[in-house]
Amino acid sequence: MADRTVSVAEPILGDEEHENVEAVLDSGRFLQGPMVEEFEQKWADFVGVDHAVAVSNGTTAIQLTLNAIGLEPGDEVIVPSLTFGSTATAVVHQAGVPVFADIDRELYTLDHTDLERCLSDRTEAVMPVHLYGHPAEMDEIVAFADEHDLYVIEDAAQAHGARYKGDVVGSIGDAGCFSFYATKNITTGEGGIVTTDNDAIAEQVRLLRSHAMSDRDHHVELGYNYRMSDINGAIGTAQVDRLEEFNARRREISERLLSELADQEWLEPATVRDYVDHAYFWAPIEIDTEVTGMSGKEVREALLERGVETRHRYVDPLYDQPVFENHRGFNSEFPWSVNDADHDYDLSLPNVEAVAGNTLGLPNHPGLDEADVDYVIETLREFGETL
Ligand SMILES: Cc1ncc(COP(=O)(O)O)c(C=O)c1O
Repeated sequence: MADRTVSVAEPILGDEEHENVEAVLDSGRFLQGPMVEEFEQKWADFVGVDHAVAVSNGTTAIQLTLNAIGLEPGDEVIVPSLTFGSTATAVVHQAGVPVFADIDRELYTLDHTDLERCLSDRTEAVMPVHLYGHPAEMDEIVAFADEHDLYVIEDAAQAHGARYKGDVVGSIGDAGCFSFYATKNITTGEGGIVTTDNDAIAEQVRLLRSHAMSDRDHHVELGYNYRMSDINGAIGTAQVDRLEEFNARRREISERLLSELADQEWLEPATVRDYVDHAYFWAPIEIDTEVTGMSGKEVREALLERGVETRHRYVDPLYDQPVFENHRGFNSEFPWSVNDADHDYDLSLPNVEAVAGNTLGLPNHPGLDEADVDYVIETLREFGETL
C-alpha cells in the first residue's frame, strides 16, 4: 500500500462557483443567458480579443469555427499527429479532411517544417495545438499560413492563459478554440469557447450554435444545438477570475518537478522555450524506454502502485487511430474518398513515432501541497533506483 495517493487532476471549486450555480437554479432559468454572457465577456477580455462565443465543448468550438471560416466538404485542414482525437474529428464533423503533420521533436507541437509536405490546393487552414499547455511555434506557422493564404485556428483546449511572446494564446490566429472540460486549468464542467477578432467568424458561430435561427421562426441554414447552459456559465465566470492564481501555482509545482527530476537518467523533462509562458496543463516527462526496459504504460502502472497518478497520452499517432486508418464515419468512406488521390494515411512520421506512448504528465494541479510534490519527487527517484 502506498503512503499516499497523489491525483493528477482535480477541479477546484470555491464559494463563488457554488453561489453562482445556486443563483441560476433559484432563478429557474438554466438556458444560455446572463451567466454565459458574463463568462464570454470576461474570457474575451482575458484573452484580449473582440469576441468570445461560448459553446457546448471544445470539439464543437472547433467544428463551428471551421464552418465559420467557410470550410467546404473535402477541404483540408493541417493538424498535428499528436493530440487529442477531436482536433481532427472536428474537421471530419465539418466534412473536411484532416491532413496529419509531424510534431516538433522537442516541443511536441506542430512541426512547421513539415507544413509544405501537407499542403495541397484544397488546404484551407492550419490548426496548431498548444499541446500540454506549451504554445506552438506561432511565428513560423502564421508566416506559412500568410504565404499560402490559409486560416490559422489555434486549438487552445489545453492552454488557458499560456502566452507566446507576450500574446495570450487564442488571440494569435484567426480564431482560438478552448475546452473547459473538468480536468482543464479551469472548468465549466463541460464547455467550450471560440475567441476571435473577426466579426464575421463570431457572428457565424453565434448563429450556428443555436439552430441557425435568425428569429423564433426561421432556420436560415444548417445549425446545431451547441449552446452552453447558464449553469456551466455560472461556474466559468467564477473560474476565469482564478485562472492566473491557478496557473501560477501550476507553474511553481511543474517547474519544481521538472528541475528536481532533471538528473534522472530514465526520463527527459519537457523542453520549454524562453519566450513562452507555459500553462502547464501537463508537467510532461518523456520516458527513455531503453533505460526503463518498460513501456510508458508500464511505467505509469508502476508509479500508480506507488501512489502517484500520471497522465499517459497520446499512445498512438492520430493517423494510426482506427477512425482515420479505417475511414470510419458517416457509415461510409465519406469524406476521405473526396480527395483520395491526395490522401495516404499509411504514414510513419519520425518525431511522433519516437514520442507516442512515451510521455507522462506528472501531478501538478493547484490543489496539491508541498508534501504531495515532495512525495512525487521521492517516488520517482525511488522508482529510478529500481531500474
Ligand atoms: C487538444 C484538444 N482539442 C480539443 C479537445 C476537445 O475538447 P472537449 O473535450 O471539450 O470537446 C480537447 C479535449 O480534451 C483537447 O485536449
